[in-house]
Amino acid sequence: MGLEDRRDQEPDVYQPAEDSQLLADTATDRLTGDELVLEVGTGSGYVAGRIADETAARVIASDLNPHAVRQARAANVETVRADLVAPFRDGVFDAVAFNPPYLPTDPENEWDDWMEHALSGGEDGRAVIDPFLETVGRVLAPDGVVYLLVSSLTGVDAVVERAGEEGFSAVAVADESFPFETLTVLELHR
Ligand SMILES: C[S@@+](CC[C@H](N)C(=O)[O-])C[C@H]1O[C@@H](n2cnc3c(N)ncnc32)[C@H](O)[C@@H]1O
Repeated sequence: MGLEDRRDQEPDVYQPAEDSQLLADTATDRLTGDELVLEVGTGSGYVAGRIADETAARVIASDLNPHAVRQARAANVETVRADLVAPFRDGVFDAVAFNPPYLPTDPENEWDDWMEHALSGGEDGRAVIDPFLETVGRVLAPDGVVYLLVSSLTGVDAVVERAGEEGFSAVAVADESFPFETLTVLELHR
């Protein structure tokens, strides 16, 4: 089902797409034990649900969108309404996964609805990624890892550079190409 159809069917909550699948596949492959995992921006709860179902990890999720919180909870994902990692305690998560809003968007074309919050990364595509990189380190355990999905449309090098400024080294651990973009999962370590 295309994004337009999904938008029609469930207009308030981002439904799983290729990016969700790539992040879920990568995280489930790479998590090895009974980690405590946070999925930021869980939307429908698909990525968090797959991690919970396919690994031994315990998963908590957050989303700013109350409709997403409701949908993820209905999918049995323990979900908190939150801006990024704001309410969580310091140093508790072994892993944090995020499929952020990453599409560069002309401010004149912003729709100001919940789907826009799911998709739009502001003018450079990094309006949500940058504050995420600034704050995620606080909630990570000392050896914690971040799985961040990025697109060639967002500028992977710029994200890697920004992650470096926040003390993370980044490795691309998965990618998938489509006609108009390449999706990459970055694994970040301190
Ligand atoms: C691209 S969607 C990904 C949804 C889901 N994780 C998936 O992969 O299918 C981005 C999600 O991030 C959420 N989001 C956007 N800004 C956020 C913020 N500041 N804090 C928490 N969630 C946010 C949106 O509401 C949306 O559900």
